[in-house]
Amino acid sequence: MQPGRKFILKVKVMEAVSKECGIINRISGPVVGVSGLEEVRLHDMVWVGDAKLVGEVIRMSGTQATIQVYEETSGLKIGEPIWGTGHPLIAHLGPGLMGQIFDGLQRPLNKLAEVEGNFLQRGVSENSLSQDKKWQFTPLVKEGDHVQAGNILGEVPETQSIMHRILVPPNLTGRIVEVKAGDLTIAEPIVIIEDDQRKINTINMEQIWPVRTPRPYKRRLDLAEPLVTGKRVIDMFFPIPKGGSAIIPGGFGTGKTVIQQSLARWSDVDVVVYVGCGERGNEMAEVLMELPELEDRVKGIPLINRTVLIANTSNMPVAAREASIYLGITIAEYYRDMGYDVLMLADSTSRWGEALREVSGRLEEIPGEEGYPAYLSSRLAEFYERAGHVDCLGNGEDKPYAGHREGSVSLVGAVSPPGGDFSDPITQSSMRITGVFWALDYELSRKRHFPAINWIKSFSLVDLSRWFGDNIEEDFPKLVQEAKSILGRENELLQVVQLIGQEALSDMEREILNISKLLREDFLQQSSIQDIDAFSSLEKSYWMLKVILEYHKKTQEALAAGIELNAITNLPVLQRIARMKEIDVEKAVPELKRLIGKIDDDLTSLISNWETENA
Ligand SMILES: Nc1ncnc2c1ncn2[C@@H]1O[C@H](COP(=O)(O)OP(=O)(O)OP(=O)(O)O)[C@@H](O)[C@H]1O
Ligand SMILES: [Mg+2]
Repeated sequence: MQPGRKFILKVKVMEAVSKECGIINRISGPVVGVSGLEEVRLHDMVWVGDAKLVGEVIRMSGTQATIQVYEETSGLKIGEPIWGTGHPLIAHLGPGLMGQIFDGLQRPLNKLAEVEGNFLQRGVSENSLSQDKKWQFTPLVKEGDHVQAGNILGEVPETQSIMHRILVPPNLTGRIVEVKAGDLTIAEPIVIIEDDQRKINTINMEQIWPVRTPRPYKRRLDLAEPLVTGKRVIDMFFPIPKGGSAIIPGGFGTGKTVIQQSLARWSDVDVVVYVGCGERGNEMAEVLMELPELEDRVKGIPLINRTVLIANTSNMPVAAREASIYLGITIAEYYRDMGYDVLMLADSTSRWGEALREVSGRLEEIPGEEGYPAYLSSRLAEFYERAGHVDCLGNGEDKPYAGHREGSVSLVGAVSPPGGDFSDPITQSSMRITGVFWALDYELSRKRHFPAINWIKSFSLVDLSRWFGDNIEEDFPKLVQEAKSILGRENELLQVVQLIGQEALSDMEREILNISKLLREDFLQQSSIQDIDAFSSLEKSYWMLKVILEYHKKTQEALAAGIELNAITNLPVLQRIARMKEIDVEKAVPELKRLIGKIDDDLTSLISNWETENA
C-alpha cells in the first residue's frame, strides 16, 4: 500500500466504521481461522472475538482467512466475530514516545499499570500517546510557505535531551494556510496545508505509520563513521558504523544482555530504542529500573530521556514478538527522519525467529531448515535492511524548515543459538545480512573474560580505517592489524605448547605469549560493571593499545640485543601497564603518553646497561 496522507485519512475514517466482518471457525494457539471474511485485506489489523484481541490477517483464500493473534487466545470460542479496522498494524508517532515503556502493540505499560494494576488484561486498549498532555509547539513554517514531505513544520522540546521535530507526512506537498503555536495536545491541529490538488489537510502532532512499511528517505549515504560504543574490543577490533547492523550471537549466559545494556548506556547516539523480545521478565525489569537512574556520559541527563523501551517478555504471547520488533524499528526510523542517530537493540532475535517457527508450524507450512519457515532469512533481511545512514526526506533547501539533515538507524540484534552453536539458521542468516559479527564465546565467559567477544571468530566487514586514520591517529588501522596478528600468532603457539610443552619455545615466541596476555587481560577485557572502565573513548583505547605495542617493540629490541626475557618482564613498568584501565578517561591520553616515555626510558637503559656490562 502507498503510505502517506491518503493512508492517514483512511485510517481515521475506517477506525470509525470498523465492523463485524467474519466468524471464527478454527483456533490453534495464536493462529485463528475465519470464514465469511469480507472487506479485509492481507496484513490488515483486526479485532478477534468478543474480547477484541488484536490480530493481523496473514493469509487469505476465498472468503477464508488466517489471523495471527497478538494476545493470549485461551477462552476464545468458535463462532465469535471478527472486526476489521481497515488498516494494517500501525505505530502512533509523536511527542511523548521518549521514556515510555510499550508492549509490542504499543500499549503504554506504565499507564496501564496505573489503570489496570500489575497484570495486563487482554483486549485492553489505551492510547499509545497521551492525548491530554500539552506540548510547546514552535513553528518553523509560516503562512504561504510551500512545503513538501519531510519538511520540519515545527519543534517541540520532548525531553531534556530530545527536540522533537514535527515533519510534513510522507507524500504531502502543498502550501501552508494556517499555523498555530504554543501549548497544544497531539490531537489538536497545528498546521493546515492546502495540497497541490487544492485539498485541505489538517496536521496534528501525531502521525501513524504501518509498522511493516519502511519509512521513506531521500537517499542512502555511505557508512563511513563509527558508532562509538566505548567498548575497546568493539570500537577498535570490530567496529560498527553509524547506520550499520551487527549481531551478538552467544550461548546461554555469555553476556548478550549485558553488552546490549551497556550499548544502550554508552553509545554516542541521540536516541535508543530497546526491544526486549521474548527474554526473561526480570532482565527487562532490571533495565527498566536502572535506566531512570543512569545518566548520559556527556550531558549528565538521565538516559530515560532519550530511550524508548518495548517490553515483550517470555511470558507474553509469542506472536507479539514480531509486532514488537516492527514497532521498534518504526519508532527508530521516525527519529532518524528528524535527523537523529538512533540505535535499536533487539534482545533476542532468536525468540522472534522461534515465534515465526511456531506460527508457521500451526499454519502447516512446509518447514525449512530446523523447522524454521522458508522465509526466515528474507524476514531477517527485511528487518536488518531498515538500518542505514540517510539523507532525510525534505532536506536540502536554504530554508529554516528544510535545512540539511542526516539521520541513521543502527541495529544490533542478540542471537541465542541453542547450545551456542553458530551453525543454527538464525545466526547463519543474520550473519550473511549484517556486516558485523560479535561472536560470544562460552569459554571466555567461563573464564570471566568480559565482554566475551571472541577475537578470532568475530568480524566487521565495514572498512572504517580511513575515518580512524583521519580522526584519531594515522597509524590506528596499522596498530589494530598488528594486535590482531599477535593474537592470531598466540593461537598457533598455544597449539605447539600443547604438543611439545612451553620449553620448546624461544624467548621471542614466549614474548608473543606475554604480549597476547597483556592484550587480552589489559586491553580487550573490560568490565561493564566497574564504572571507571565501562566507557573507553577512542583516544584512550588507541593509546592503551599503543602502550602495549610499544612495550612489545622495545622488548623485542632488548631480546635481539641478547637480554633474557625474565630480566625484561621483571621491570616494574609492567605493573603500570596492567593498571592502564583504571586511568580516568578524561586524563588518559597524556598519562598513557607518559607511560610510553617511561617504557622507552626503562628499556633503553636496560639495553645500554647490559651492553656496557657485556662489552
Ligand atoms: N561485560 C561484562 N562485564 C562483567 N560481567 C559480565 C559482562 N557480561 C556478562 N557478565 C556476567 O555474565 C552474566 C550473564 O550475562 P547475560 O545475562 O548478559 O548473558 P546472556 O547471554 O544475555 O544470557 P541469556 O542467554 O540467559 O539471556 C551477567 O550476569 C554478568 O555477571
Ligand atoms: Mg540475555
